[in-house]
Amino acid sequence: MKKIAVLTSGGDSPAMNAAIRAVVRVALEKGIKVLGVHRGYNGLINGEVFEMDRHSVSDIIQRGGTILRTARSEEFKTEEGRQKALNVIKVLRIDGVIVIGGDGSFRGADLLSDLGVPTIGIPGTIDNDLPYTDYTIGFDTALNTAIDAINKIRDTSSSHERVSVIEVMGRNCGDLALYAGIAGGAEQVIIPEQPSKIEDICESIFAGKRIGKLHNIIILAEGVGGAQKLAKDIERITSIETRATVLGYIQRGGSPSASDRILASRMGNRAVKALIEGKTARVVGIRNNKIIDMDIKEALAMKKEFNKDLYELSISLSN
Ligand code: F6P
Repeated sequence: MKKIAVLTSGGDSPAMNAAIRAVVRVALEKGIKVLGVHRGYNGLINGEVFEMDRHSVSDIIQRGGTILRTARSEEFKTEEGRQKALNVIKVLRIDGVIVIGGDGSFRGADLLSDLGVPTIGIPGTIDNDLPYTDYTIGFDTALNTAIDAINKIRDTSSSHERVSVIEVMGRNCGDLALYAGIAGGAEQVIIPEQPSKIEDICESIFAGKRIGKLHNIIILAEGVGGAQKLAKDIERITSIETRATVLGYIQRGGSPSASDRILASRMGNRAVKALIEGKTARVVGIRNNKIIDMDIKEALAMKKEFNKDLYELSISLSN
C-alpha cells in the first residue's frame, strides 16, 4: 500500500474533518501517500485530487463541514461514470480508497470495490441510520445542536404557554428525534418507527395542561414530517396556541463535539489499518465502544433495530 485516496460524499456531518485528519496522519506515519479528492465521487471521476501532507489537515479538527467538500454523484451511479473513476485510480496509481459518508456513499464504495479497488467506508452522517454501527460520526454533535435549540424554544414556549412542534432531521430514522426528546425533556416524540395518532397527541397535551405544565414540547422526526400541518391540526383540535420550528441545516454544521472528534479519529485510524492489512469492501463502525470493521454488503443488508426501551423511556419520563 503506497498511495491511498480519501473522499467525503453525500450530506456532510460534523467531524468529517476529524476523520480526514486521522486518515491523513495515520497513513503518513506508515509511509503511505494520501490524495485528497474534492467533491466526492464526482471529483474521483474528474480527477480533482491533490496530495495531502500533515499541514493540509492542521487546524481542522474543530471545524464543521468537510475541507474536501462533498456532493451526491449521479454520474457515479452509471457504469460509464465508474469506469472513468477507475481510469483515474489506475493512472494515479491509487492502491486504496477511503470513503466517508452515509448509506448512499457506501453503495458507491461497494460498487468501487466490485471493480477491484480496495475500498473502506467510514460512517459520516448525522442520521445514525446505519444498522451495523451503534453511532455514526456527526450524530452526537447534531444532537447537541438540537438540544441547544430545544432549550431556547422551551423558554419562549413556557412564557406563552404554547405547544411547540420541533422538527429534527434524520431522514427515515427516528434516532435524532428520540435522543433529542429524552435529552431535551420533551413531552412527546413522534418518529417513523412508532406511528402516533393525532387524538393521542392532543390527549397528551391536555394531560400536560391538567398537571400544570406551562409548555409542551413535541419532537417530530423528519421521516414523519409535516411540522406546520401538525401544529395547525393541534391548534384546531385543542384551541391551544401551537408553533412549529423546523431546525433544518443548523444540525449539519458547527464545531464537532469531543465525542464525535474522538470517534472520527478512531474510525479514521481503523480504516487506514484495514487497507494496510489488505482488507477491502469493509465498513468501519463502533459496537459496545469497540471499533470494528465488517463486510460492506452485509452491513448494507442489515435492518436497523428499533430501540423500543429508549422509546418507552421517553414516554415514562414525560409523564
Ligand atoms: O443525511 C443527512 C441529511 O441531513 C438528512 O437528515 C436529510 O434528510 C438530508 O441529509 C438532506 O439532504 P440534502 O443536503 O441533500 O438537502
